[in-house]
Order: sequence, then C-alpha cells, then structure tokens
Amino acid sequence: MSCRVLVLNGPNLNLLGTRETDVYGTATLDSILGDVRAMAAEHGVDVYDIQSNSEGELIDALQEARTRADGVIFNPGAYTHYSIALRDAIASISVPVVETHLSNVHSREEFRHTSVVSAVCLGVVAGFGADSYLVAFEALRRHLSHQASPTARTD
Ligand code: DQA
Repeated sequence: MSCRVLVLNGPNLNLLGTRETDVYGTATLDSILGDVRAMAAEHGVDVYDIQSNSEGELIDALQEARTRADGVIFNPGAYTHYSIALRDAIASISVPVVETHLSNVHSREEFRHTSVVSAVCLGVVAGFGADSYLVAFEALRRHLSHQASPTARTD
C-alpha cells in the first residue's frame, strides 16, 4: 500500500525532551518523528510532519491534508480541550485523523478530561508516552490498508 501520513503537532510539543519530563518523558519531537518514520519506512508509507504553536497554522495543515495526506496523526496539545475551530477543521476533511497524546489525559487535571476533537476523529491514543505515536501510526496504517483493499486483507 502506498500512502502518505501527516504527523501534526500542536503547541509546546516542540519543547518535548525538556518540557515537564516527569509527564511527557525525555524523548524529543525529532526522535519521536524519527521512530515514526522508521516504522513507516518498513511499510512503504511516506511521512511528513508539521509542528506549530498557532491554531491557524494547524487548521491550514489539516485543510492542506485533504490533498496531501491519506491520514493524520494529530496531537493538538492544549487545543484539544477547547478549540472548536480545530474540531471543525477535522470534521471538514474526509482524511482520517487519529487524536494522539503522550500522557493519559484522563488521569490528569479535570480540564484535560474533555476533548472537543475526539468525536470527529477516527480514534484516540493516549498514555503511552512517545510510543503513543507508534500505536497511532499502526492503527492508522491498518485502517488505511483495510480501506484500500477490503477483500484482500493480509493481517
Ligand atoms: C498532551 C496533553 C495536553 O493536555 C497538553 O496540553 C499537551 C500535551 C499530551 O500529548 O499528553 O500539550 O496533548
């Protein structure tokens, strides 16, 4: 299956590796993206990534994904909990989006228990640290491969 996946990261995720390492671990965003790329390469999947601290740029990236990507792994950071604009952007595109978090947001402060984007995403992965991105990638890859050839599944 030949396809392209966008790994999209929102505010403050550029600081991974030094940011609240007790919560988010010590892996940098670059090393996480490197791991996703390595896994993707094993399956012939092309990966591009965008990180932005700005809501509008994240919306632009989601809109652009309509013609550039087959699926999106998206960690919206704190926007998860209140950005209706990001929710609307996800709902406006037919590209499947996997909401992804390093931390288990449900075991943290109450304001993190609400996600305004989950309902318009294909699925949610949270709580596995840097591995959340790999779990999200594998889930998305399987979803896309089932879509590509529903009668020819090999997994
Ligand atoms: C996060 C969880 C959010 O609540 C937080 O604002 C983040 C990171 C995570 O990956 O665990 O910035 O999305």
